[in-house]
Formats: sequence, structure tokens, C-alpha cells
Amino acid sequence: MAGRVDGKVALVVGGGQTPGATIGNGRATSILLAREGAKVVVADLDLERAEDTVQAVRAEGGDATPLVVDVLQEDSVKAAIDATVSTYGRLDLLHNNVGASLSIGDKPATELDVEGWDRVININLRGMWLACKWAIPQMQQQGGGSIINISSMAAMHVYPRVGYKVTKMGVIGLTEQLAGVHAKDLIRVNTILPGLMNTPMAIEARVEAGQPRDEVLAERNARIPLGGQMGSAWDVAYAALFLHSDEARFITGVSLRVDGGMQVGH
Ligand SMILES: NC(=O)c1ccc[n+]([C@@H]2O[C@H](COP(=O)([O-])OP(=O)(O)OC[C@H]3O[C@@H](n4cnc5c(N)ncnc54)[C@H](O)[C@@H]3O)[C@@H](O)[C@H]2O)c1
Repeated sequence: MAGRVDGKVALVVGGGQTPGATIGNGRATSILLAREGAKVVVADLDLERAEDTVQAVRAEGGDATPLVVDVLQEDSVKAAIDATVSTYGRLDLLHNNVGASLSIGDKPATELDVEGWDRVININLRGMWLACKWAIPQMQQQGGGSIINISSMAAMHVYPRVGYKVTKMGVIGLTEQLAGVHAKDLIRVNTILPGLMNTPMAIEARVEAGQPRDEVLAERNARIPLGGQMGSAWDVAYAALFLHSDEARFITGVSLRVDGGMQVGH
């Protein structure tokens, strides 16, 4: 049976993961895209993290290649696009997954300094723009493509730290702008808004900041209308698989909430 993204070439930026007990969004998405027939370049600041994802893909018989990228450096981002094309011949799916808050020093507006602001903006938002900037000409040349920029439900609510909130709103703006401008090129650009997910990125930083793990999990679960349980990285990955596949060929510029009903249920 043909996979849902058979023959496509994907670049997952931030395809490694924060170490922890569960699987992260970028890793689950890389694995699922490969399982459904894509060749996947797994790019991450941390080569070992990228290699671990690639190993998981290969263990299932999939095709993936690890790559180092730093989304803070334009040359590095451009090189990742070039390396994808030189490894697999094309680039169909760009998946922009890099994003963080607590772990990169994000703070409330009255506590953050200028360097902290710049760091969060540059990692969470400028990096996604840079990857789009260099991927789009390649996709134009090929006659189309799909881009997903990962935002967050933090964009929809008051959030304790200003940089994350602002950048995740910015990701929606970037997505809508590019979707509008590049529809004529058959390049679809969508965003996913994960809610409270049980991933290392979300849980480990809070545990490291001193909150007991059980308390972190229970607090987050209690906020989910759909079943009283956080989602997992696979929930985000399945949404991404759909949006990257030709099943979504008429869908662009959307912000897809993957939040267990949080937006509508409380
Ligand atoms: N996990 C959640 O609960 C949750 C909720 C809402 C939104 N999100 C969003 O999902 C995305 C990440 O989820 P995840 O679970 O895969 O996180 P993760 O932390 O496990 O993976 C992100 C990867 O990005 C890499 N990275 C960090 N800085 C980088 C840089 N400068 N250049 C290249 N790579 C870099 C990290 O090494 C890491 O492997 C983020 O955009 C985040 O805001 C997550």
C-alpha cells in the first residue's frame, strides 16, 4: 500500500528532541513521515539528537539522514536546504519545529532583557522565516511544496513568558503571509498549534525548574477537556502528516489546533 507522503522529500528542522521520558514532536513527525514513504533529512543543532531520530527511522526500514543546523545562522539554514536537495534530489516538505521558552531564558515582559528578547525571537521566529526564505525558491522551481510552521496554543491565551507568546503569534502571521503570497506557486503553508502535550520539551524544563513531576503532569492533564489527558507528540505528528500530504492539497494558511478541546472547552 502506498504511503501518504510516498516519494516526497522532507526536511524537519529541529527533528531531534529534548531528552526525556516521552517522545518529542519533531522526532515523532520525522518517524511518521518516513513511515508513510517520505525521505527525511533530520536537522538539529545537536547532531546526536538528530542521529537518534534517524536511527529510529532506520530501525523501521525508513530512509533518513542526520544533519547539523543552527537556525540562528542564515548560512547554516541555507546549507540545510542545499544538503537536502543534494542528498535526495528535491525538497517537498519543510517542517519548522524549533521552538522553546523556559529553556532559552524566556521571562515575563518586565523581567526579560534585550538579549533574552532577541534570543527568543531569533530562535522561535526568525529561524522559521530563514528556512522558508531558502526553501521557497527551491519549491517554486519544483512547482510546489508544503511548509508547516509549528506555533503553539500559547498564541491564543495569556502565557507566563512574553517571548514565547509573541513569537508563536508571529509564526501564525508568517504562515498566513507566505500562504497568501505563494499560493500561486502551489506552495501550501500551514501552522499547527499544539496545546498541552506530554513531551520532554514541555515537562522536563518545568521539572528542572523545581516542580515535582507528578504535579506537573496532574496540573496539565486537569486542563484538558478531551479525556483529561495531555496529548502526545504523535497527535501533532498525525496532524502534520495530513497537512503535508496531498490529502490537504486545497488547504493553506490554516492554524490547526491540536489541543484536546482546550480552546472550546473552558
Ligand atoms: N511539547 C509541547 O508541549 C509543545 C506545545 C506547544 C508547542 N510546542 C512547539 O513544538 C515545537 C517543539 O516540540 P518538540 O517536542 O519537538 O521539542 P524538542 O525540544 O524535543 O525538539 C526541538 C529540537 O530543536 C532543536 N534546536 C534548538 N535550538 C536549535 C537551533 N538553534 N537550531 C536547530 N535546532 C535547534 C533542539 O536541539 C531539539 O532537539 C516547538 O516549536 C514548540 O514551541 C510544543
